[in-house]
Amino acid sequence: MLGTVQMGMMAALVVVLVPMGMAGWHLSRNKMLFFSGALFISLAVGVHLSSPFFPSSLSSLFVSSLSSAAVVVFDSRRHSCLSLLHDVVWNLTLTPNSSSLSVPHYRKSWSWPNSSSSAPCNFQTLSRSDASDLLNGSWIVVAGDSQARLFALSLLRLLLADDSQSFDSARTDLFKRHSDYKTLIPEIGVRLDFVWAPYADNLTDLVAAFRRRSPPDVLVMDAGLWHMLRVTNDSDYGRSLKRLRDSVVSLIPFSPDLAGDGGGRRSSLSSSSPPPPPAPHLFWMGMPTLINSMLNTEEKREKMTDELRGAYDKQLWKSKLLRQSGGPLLMLDIESLSWNCGVHCTEDGMHYDVPVYEATVQIMLNALLIDSHQKL
Ligand SMILES: *[C@@H]1O[C@H](CO)[C@@H](O)[C@H](O)[C@H]1NC(C)=O
Ligand SMILES: *[C@@H]1O[C@H](CO)[C@@H](O)[C@H](O)[C@H]1NC(C)=O
Ligand SMILES: *[C@@H]1O[C@H](CO)[C@@H](O)[C@H](O)[C@H]1NC(C)=O
Ligand SMILES: *[C@@H]1O[C@H](CO)[C@@H](O)[C@H](O)[C@H]1NC(C)=O
Ligand SMILES: *[C@@H]1O[C@H](CO)[C@@H](O)[C@H](O)[C@H]1NC(C)=O
Ligand SMILES: *[C@@H]1O[C@H](CO)[C@@H](O)[C@H](O)[C@H]1NC(C)=O
Repeated sequence: MLGTVQMGMMAALVVVLVPMGMAGWHLSRNKMLFFSGALFISLAVGVHLSSPFFPSSLSSLFVSSLSSAAVVVFDSRRHSCLSLLHDVVWNLTLTPNSSSLSVPHYRKSWSWPNSSSSAPCNFQTLSRSDASDLLNGSWIVVAGDSQARLFALSLLRLLLADDSQSFDSARTDLFKRHSDYKTLIPEIGVRLDFVWAPYADNLTDLVAAFRRRSPPDVLVMDAGLWHMLRVTNDSDYGRSLKRLRDSVVSLIPFSPDLAGDGGGRRSSLSSSSPPPPPAPHLFWMGMPTLINSMLNTEEKREKMTDELRGAYDKQLWKSKLLRQSGGPLLMLDIESLSWNCGVHCTEDGMHYDVPVYEATVQIMLNALLIDSHQKL
């Protein structure tokens, strides 16, 4: 799969030397993404970094001396490291007592490969304390179906790692079926909400509500499986995604890249008005790999076919919801993660084992790091 596209991206990739003078440079674009000095150094060195002084509208690659000690090459397309984030490697090993069990039991772990293409990106599996530093003071909303719930649970597991009692009670609350869940982790001031929103139209309503109040710092959404099972009509799904896109675009305070599509608050910004609130970081979780023969009801096996799955994917790309197709949301590609983890990582062909969602959480955190450096 390492084709010309990725080679091209590598050609555009960014060599970064961070001047030591920047170590104490606070990433204070908003109250989130505050880095302690140590974390900043360890994560910033080698991360695809742009300078705050250059407008992002410049579309060509350019080089600028930031100081005599450093040269920052700025790739305005921002894709190179983001596109490599999902290239994780799985390691499944049979547990020793597997032969005595009816279903073999695998120990599963994942990591970013030590390849030369991703090495400059310096992806890191964030520990609890790194993640706490990164998310300190921020409000995170995860909205969608059961995949979103599993993602929220993995994020909580990371943030509450040394507090298993809180985690167990959170898990119980979070798994009350089809209900919302809100929690505050006081030590790091993180507010994490899960919103049950199984259809794209539910997400559109949610985003509209954020437009009236203030939006969260991070918003992760998904929808598709419910629509596939209950509406089973890809063009209808496509239309609902377009409505969602329009709604999200008008949530973004100032988005030159996306202007003209869906209106927004742009025109109301005059030189005398206060600066717009920071734009939220927006993610879309794709649908998982569906293993038809493992789906647990006859109805699911009949309706959720590979063919329909493909048609739903096509609608997702057509809707221009994703950044990869010119939209506002960065894709968290559960399909490729679940595909690579494989049949041993699921029991019902639809919901995957914890490590798949853990990897997704780490990919999001690394994307936040990349983005927050670049958007400053
Ligand atoms: C895979 O994981 C097992 C433990 O689960 C470990 O012993 C082994 O070294 C790992 N293999 C690789 C290639 O990382
Ligand atoms: C035996 O298998 C179970 C999974 O069914 C696992 O939880 C347990 O840790 C395994 N024991 C050993 C010694 O590997
Ligand atoms: C990973 O790369 C580094 C150098 O970039 C090398 O020293 C190390 O041995 C590599 N590790 C593996 C497991 O290949
Ligand atoms: C969170 O950030 C505030 C400053 O904004 C700091 O005082 C506090 O110690 C931080 N908490 C953690 C757990 O890092
Ligand atoms: C989601 O949308 C559907 C159809 O538009 C609606 O029937 C349902 O009540 C909504 N659910 C939630 C939780 O808002
Ligand atoms: C999907 O819905 C549209 C109307 O929203 C309808 O015209 C079309 O026939 C439906 N397609 C299928 C395959 O049912």
